Amino acid sequence: MSERSPKAILRVLAGEPVWPLPVWIMRQAGRYLPEYRETRKQAGSFLDLCYNPRLAEEVTLQPIRRFGFDASILFSDILVIPHALGQEVRFVENEGPKLDPVTSEADFSRLADEISLERLEPVFETLDRLRGSLPGETTLLGFCGAPWTVASYMIAGKGTPDQAPARLTAYRDPAFMDALIDRLVRASTAYLVRQIDAGAEAVQIFESFGAALPPALFDRLSLEPIRRLVEGLKAARPQAKVIVFVRGGGSHLRRFASAGIGDALALDWSLDPAQVLPALPDTLATQGNLDPLALIAGGEALEKGVDRILAAVKGRPHIFNLGHGILPETPVDHVAQLIARVRGA
Ligand code: CP3
Repeated sequence: MSERSPKAILRVLAGEPVWPLPVWIMRQAGRYLPEYRETRKQAGSFLDLCYNPRLAEEVTLQPIRRFGFDASILFSDILVIPHALGQEVRFVENEGPKLDPVTSEADFSRLADEISLERLEPVFETLDRLRGSLPGETTLLGFCGAPWTVASYMIAGKGTPDQAPARLTAYRDPAFMDALIDRLVRASTAYLVRQIDAGAEAVQIFESFGAALPPALFDRLSLEPIRRLVEGLKAARPQAKVIVFVRGGGSHLRRFASAGIGDALALDWSLDPAQVLPALPDTLATQGNLDPLALIAGGEALEKGVDRILAAVKGRPHIFNLGHGILPETPVDHVAQLIARVRGA
């Protein structure tokens, strides 16, 4: 049987190097799994699945049953926050999320000042169920989107290639942008506090659109809001552990580290751990960062990609993961090969 120690991920988040590395993958529950596609059909819409505790628990557990990942991430979406602030959110098949854009003071004034945690009760119930059904060694992760990433969906009403609508708003109407970001910091803090109370042992903050911020906007719209979110969560729940994933944030990593923002920093796939890690404190946990396309390709690309990361992180507190979410076309057996390679090291 496995020699993995209990809750290896929590030990890494406390700064302890653990070998073999604990492993989970971003978006590990999802369309690359046939059993997910089956449950998804039963649920109705994607949001119906997010708000159905029994089915959301089921899809959260599917990748754990198959692969025995060291962490299980709550099944939900970053866009439940705009939804719980009163914005219309739907997921259109093969197109992704669609929201009624918030572009004027009038749109903004229609949003709730405080997030409706009642509306999110099914999400907390999912966590509560998972606390009882997960294997003892599996760490339960909650998550939310970072304020800038969520704001860019709220303003554009959809995913956009370079978040131009939100970026333009930040230049043209800073007061509006700051008010929206502030609303999201408060909403996300309250949301994560409830996730911890419902059973999440750590949370990950997804700044998926960090690459869309020029240096002149980065601190105001990404680093500072994330700092406030993490500080607010830790002031309320000091035991909460936080993983911060800023996609495209490589040039800012050292500042996140020196400001003490997060118990772990997740690296996207563009970064070379061998270059980046020596500049970070030895006791700061990191996570990542195989290219999701290397996982699709499999074979030598997968093996060399994994080995390169393992060599760079050995002796440090590190959680193996991809450098962004797994893609739907990924062959399931490549995931099994990835885990075998990491655990066999
Ligand atoms: O397993 C997990 O990681 C937990 C669940 C999870 C989902 N979304 C489920 C999901 C998590 C952590 C997210 C986060 C999320 N959602 C992010 C940040 C992470 C990242 O990848 O950068 C973002 C940007 C979103 C917004 C979002 N949700 C988009 C752009 C889409 C459509 C694109 C796509 O992949 O279809 C979604 C839908 C979504 N969220 C799906 C899943 C499994 C697919 C929906 C379906 O089943 O049809």
